[in-house]
Amino acid sequence: MTTTPALCRRDFIIAAGSVALAAAVPHPAIAAADPIGLRLIAKPGRVPIVGSPHPETAVWGYGGTVPGPEIRLSQGERLRAVVENRLKEGTTVHWHGIRVPNAMDGVPRLTQDTIQPGASFTYEFDLPDAGTYWYHTHDNSPEQIGRGLYGPLIVEEPEPPKVDRDVVWVLGDFRLLRDASIAGGFENRMEMAMAGRIGNTVTVNGKVAKDFTVRAGERIRLRLINAAAARVFALEFRGHRPFVIAYDGQPVEPHEPEDEQVVLGPAMRTDLILDLTGKPRDRLPIIDPFYDNLTYRLVTIAYSDETPLPRRTAEDIARLPPNTMPEPDLAAAERHEIVLEGGMMGGGSQGGMMGGGMMGMMRGSAMWSINGVAAMAHDLMPSIKLRRGATALLAIRNETAWYHPVHLHGHSFRVVTRNGKPTRYREWRDTVLVPPREQAEIAFVADNPGDWMIHCHIPDHQEGGMMTVIRVA
Ligand code: C2O
Ligand code: CU
Repeated sequence: MTTTPALCRRDFIIAAGSVALAAAVPHPAIAAADPIGLRLIAKPGRVPIVGSPHPETAVWGYGGTVPGPEIRLSQGERLRAVVENRLKEGTTVHWHGIRVPNAMDGVPRLTQDTIQPGASFTYEFDLPDAGTYWYHTHDNSPEQIGRGLYGPLIVEEPEPPKVDRDVVWVLGDFRLLRDASIAGGFENRMEMAMAGRIGNTVTVNGKVAKDFTVRAGERIRLRLINAAAARVFALEFRGHRPFVIAYDGQPVEPHEPEDEQVVLGPAMRTDLILDLTGKPRDRLPIIDPFYDNLTYRLVTIAYSDETPLPRRTAEDIARLPPNTMPEPDLAAAERHEIVLEGGMMGGGSQGGMMGGGMMGMMRGSAMWSINGVAAMAHDLMPSIKLRRGATALLAIRNETAWYHPVHLHGHSFRVVTRNGKPTRYREWRDTVLVPPREQAEIAFVADNPGDWMIHCHIPDHQEGGMMTVIRVA
């Protein structure tokens, strides 16, 4: 019934490919202040995901590469990008996490018409906040993200923290066949009703990675971006003590991650300060044990034999300067519920897949819902209306048996409670990972007018109905 991955995940990830990560840095950054702006061409390409002796993989990417080119500008600058569609189907670009004007948000049928094959669309907007963001397709996302249409977008602080290196890792996940081609069978209904399409090949900057070469004593700002469609990462830095300094681009009080795991649901980002406290020639792994019995090594931190740089102490890790979101006024907040239902083994009145639900699913009816409604991409209607300038408090309740990274467009929000308890850092985010049967409350000032999607960022769940629209007017 399901599309069986042709390869055992673990074997493939670990045995295949062995690209040193130094060779896998993103393509030359597209710099600021180019008056013409940049040109992103969505098109097919061939890239060495696994590395020789495996053949190259046919992908869809910006510029034909995966990830697409790194866009790096400074806070306050204006981004102008001409997106040209050389695919055989419509596409759009969403600037994930950037508080853009509604018309620049890239949601087909809601904020713009899809960009037809052969056509172009120009996106242009200011970058109000510094941080680690990304851009990706927002049309036919299960397949277009699954084939590689995403890239990193870095907005630098006016005075970035002092580090020896600023490193971006775009984490990807592909389902490859033995010939290293991408398996078809997107939107398999059984998978859609479970965790979504998880691949068998994890990539860092578009390649299966082996070594990340460092020098003892270095301090690195590591910007992690989960661009995978459905995979959750829980990274453990064995032998190191990374500090989190930002979530989803937004500064947070520097702290060590809970349970020594950096957890990233789809679409989420984490900025770390990583002090390389090992000795020359040490080899220390980063492992990911998120899925039971599928622990694998993402990459090995490989120390060179250069003389160590002077050691730093964790005490001098400074908080990043704040961004520009207005502070939510919780006392005056309008409260709305966002109840997530559906999926296999799920509860709920509308979307439950047990009993009659299974037959409904196989017949093609919706499998996921928000507040009892399974939205369809061609028919998006606002279900929540917010007064412009008001503080909104959204109480998200996951009544399903699956993880959902819930993403709000056009705003960043504070995560104020989890399961009824105040969060320690009241972190700003644009995507909150809600585990099965758990709850999270988020708060923000609805200061950006327009119709904004809120949806699960696992494309298979989104397309299965787990999305709705919030109107700010
Ligand atoms: Cu990153 Cu609606 O998406
Ligand atoms: Cu989901």
